[in-house]
Amino acid sequence: MEILLLGTAAGGGFPQWNCACRMCTADLPSRTQDCVAISRDGAGWYLLNASPDIRAQVLATPRLAAGPGPRETPLRGALLTDAELDHTLGLTMLREGAGLRVWAPAAVLQALRADFPLQGIVSRYGAWEWHQAEGSFTVDGLSVTAVPISDKKPKYVQSTADGPWVVAYRISDPAGGCVVYAPCLKTWPEGFDELVAGADCVILDGTFYSPDEMSGATAAGVGSGAQRAMGHIPIAGPDGSLAQIARHPGKRWIYTHLNNTNPILDPDSEQYKEVLAAGAEAPPDGTVIRV
Ligand code: MLT
Ligand code: MN
Ligand code: ZN
Repeated sequence: MEILLLGTAAGGGFPQWNCACRMCTADLPSRTQDCVAISRDGAGWYLLNASPDIRAQVLATPRLAAGPGPRETPLRGALLTDAELDHTLGLTMLREGAGLRVWAPAAVLQALRADFPLQGIVSRYGAWEWHQAEGSFTVDGLSVTAVPISDKKPKYVQSTADGPWVVAYRISDPAGGCVVYAPCLKTWPEGFDELVAGADCVILDGTFYSPDEMSGATAAGVGSGAQRAMGHIPIAGPDGSLAQIARHPGKRWIYTHLNNTNPILDPDSEQYKEVLAAGAEAPPDGTVIRV
């Protein structure tokens, strides 16, 4: 299986257009919003989430280039972990195509029908298919398991529908190779250790380095950290994800969905060195992984 990290920043990207924080003005490598593409055979590709930056991401990625027919594309579908705008808006950018097969949890599909009626909108442009991602299912020969991990609802959603609002995906190729994609983790959820056991690569929520990053004493001063950090487990600290990673050596741990305040965006930072020393990494957009 081939895995392309198309984008590795949280909503807003890095730098963020309306932000003049220390990190956004530091002239560090830019990152587009979180999106991954996977393929079993290199011919058909499936997105994990659909970033608003998808057009630029596809154009920057030779593996996803259009062809060989004049209107052919290797993009076949998308699996959504949640209904957040930074993970779903990209579908509207793909309306010029013939339509995709989309999988998402039931609550997410409902939000994309009612609160933000993206399903109805793009379906007027092509033959889109909408499938509920629940339990285990097969996507083009890949075995996929959707695991509920959080009840964090997008801000725009008004419905009081029960979740799960966020899932992680465990995707394995029967011929070998397994990846877990979990860019929206509130805590280290129960059962997550079992989920990542046996995976070659785990792509993980790296939104915040510390829980008070946006407003704390050493922080960016761009908002209420306690509030924003809710719904995203920090990397550092006793309750952070890095402490958990240490218990699972021997696999590739990749942080994605990095918020523009996260000090690990600077590869020379002490914080990023700590991440590397613990056996994890935050590689740039465009990284190719084979498992
Ligand atoms: C999140 O990941 O928490 C959301 O994407 C926040 C947002 O609306 O940008
Ligand atoms: Mn997000
Ligand atoms: Zn910033």
